[in-house]
Amino acid sequence: MSSETWLILGASSAVARAFAREAAAHGAALLLAGRDMPDLECQAADLTIRHQVAAVPLRFDAGDLASHAGFVARCLSQAGGGFLNVFLAFGVMPDQADADADPTVAASMVTANFTGAASILAALAPALEAQGGGRVVALGSVAGDRGRKRNFLYGATKAALRTYLQGYAARLAKAGVRVLCIKAGPVDTAMTWPLPGLPFMVSPSAFASTAWRRARRGSGSTYLPSIWWPVMSIIRLLPTSIFNRLDI
Ligand SMILES: NC(=O)c1ccc[n+]([C@@H]2O[C@H](COP(=O)([O-])OP(=O)(O)OC[C@H]3O[C@@H](n4cnc5c(N)ncnc54)[C@H](OP(=O)(O)O)[C@@H]3O)[C@@H](O)[C@H]2O)c1
Repeated sequence: MSSETWLILGASSAVARAFAREAAAHGAALLLAGRDMPDLECQAADLTIRHQVAAVPLRFDAGDLASHAGFVARCLSQAGGGFLNVFLAFGVMPDQADADADPTVAASMVTANFTGAASILAALAPALEAQGGGRVVALGSVAGDRGRKRNFLYGATKAALRTYLQGYAARLAKAGVRVLCIKAGPVDTAMTWPLPGLPFMVSPSAFASTAWRRARRGSGSTYLPSIWWPVMSIIRLLPTSIFNRLDI
C-alpha cells in the first residue's frame, strides 16, 4: 500500500498530467479527477503500468457544485492509503474581450476558477482535518497579483482563490494540513497555446518537478518559476499612472 494518495483535480490539464507522473514516480497512489473520462482511464492505465501504483479515474466537474459532497465520499472510498493530498489544477482562461461581451463566459470562468474551487475545497476540508496531516497544492497565477487590462477577470478569479487559500490554510494548519498556493507564470500548455511570446515560459514537466519539490517543503505561496517574484514585485509597485499606460 502506498504511503500517500494524491487527488488530482482537473487531471487532464497538461500541468496536472505532469504532476501525476511525478507523484506516481515517487510511489504515490492517484485519484485522477476530471471531465474527460476516456483520457483519465488512459492516464490511469499508463501510470499503473509504468510505476506500479494504484490510479483511479473519477468523474469531477468543478461547476457541478451539488455533486461535490458525493464526489468527496467517492474519493475517500477509493483513496489508496496514507494521507490524502490534493493537487487542484482545473481552470479556464477565455479572452477578456469574450468575457466582456458575454456574461455567461465571464460567469463560467468565475464558477470554474473560483466558486468550483472553493466548493470542492470546503467539501474536502473535514476529511483533511480528520486525517490530521497531508497537503493541498492549488494553482494560482501571477495574473492574480495585479489586474492587467488583457486578462483582469481571469486575474480576479486567481486573486480570489489566493485569498481563499490563505484562510483555508489557517483553518487546516491546526490539523497539521499544509496548504500551498503556486503563483504560476506561463506554462506551455493548451491554455497558453494561442498566446505566443509569453516571457519565462516553462514546460509542464519542468513546472511539475519543481512543484513536487515545493509541495514537499512549503506552505503559503510561491512563485513558479522563481523569476516571477522580482518581476511581480516591480509590477505591483508600479504607480497606477504608469501601469495603466502599459499594454500588458
Ligand atoms: N498554462 C499557464 O500558463 C498557467 C499559468 C498560470 C496558472 N495556470 C493554471 O494552471 C492550471 C492548469 O492549467 P493548464 O495550463 O494545465 O491548462 P489546460 O491544459 O487547459 O487544463 C485546464 C484543465 O482544467 C479543466 N477544467 C476546466 N473547467 C473544468 C471544470 N468545470 N471541471 C473540471 N475540470 C475543468 C479542463 O478539463 P477539460 O479537459 O474537461 O476541459 C482541463 O483539463 C489552471 O488552473 C490554470 O489557470 C496556468
